[in-house]
This record gives sequence, C-alpha cells and structure tokens, in this order.
Amino acid sequence: MSEPKLIYVCEGGDCTERGSGDIHDKLKEQLLAKDPEEETVRVRRYPCFGGCECAINVTVWPDRRFYSEVTEADIPEIVESVTSDDGKPVERLQGKVMPDVEEMVWTLLDSPY
Ligand code: FES
Repeated sequence: MSEPKLIYVCEGGDCTERGSGDIHDKLKEQLLAKDPEEETVRVRRYPCFGGCECAINVTVWPDRRFYSEVTEADIPEIVESVTSDDGKPVERLQGKVMPDVEEMVWTLLDSPY
C-alpha cells in the first residue's frame, strides 16, 4: 500500500485568526468518517506556509495542491478530491499565493528532514 497523503492546515497567526483550527477539525472529522484508520490520508497542522495574505491555506502532499482562502464551505470538495479515484483538484482555491512561496513549500515538504 502506498503512503497516505498528508493534508496540512496552516496554524500560523493569520490563518488561525480566520478559523483554521475549525477547518482542521472539520477536515479531520470528515476524512476519519471515510478512512477511520487514516490509511489513505492524514490531516496535520503546519506552522506557516508564508502565504499569510491568502489565509486560510491548506496543502495536499504529495499531490502539490496549494489551496488558499479556504472556508468551511470548501471542505466537502477537498475531502472528495483527496478520496476519490479521479481526484481532481479544487481549482478555484489554487494559484492565489506567489509561485515562489508555493515552490518553497513543496521543497520543504519534499525534503526527508
Ligand atoms: S499564517 Fe497561514 S500561511 Fe502564514
């Protein structure tokens, strides 16, 4: 079996102020309902992605999906995207942060350390 995907929810200042704690909890709740053992996807917190002006930020690794301005209304689509076989990204939430910010995040997440 392949490694589970990781969904990181920012817990930096701006994202927290806009409610990322609730986004984390609701994402986790909905994903655990589909995958109680977290075999295919896990939800984790992340200190700050550096794209604070686009809070709330959520990433999906290793799929390299950087979602911004995420609200609770977006959660079902994100869950569907990471759990369905065709797994199309939620495009309207992508491409909001500067490309170099996104690239730096992938470099960090791809790093084994
Ligand atoms: S506070 Fe979330 S990206 Fe910085």
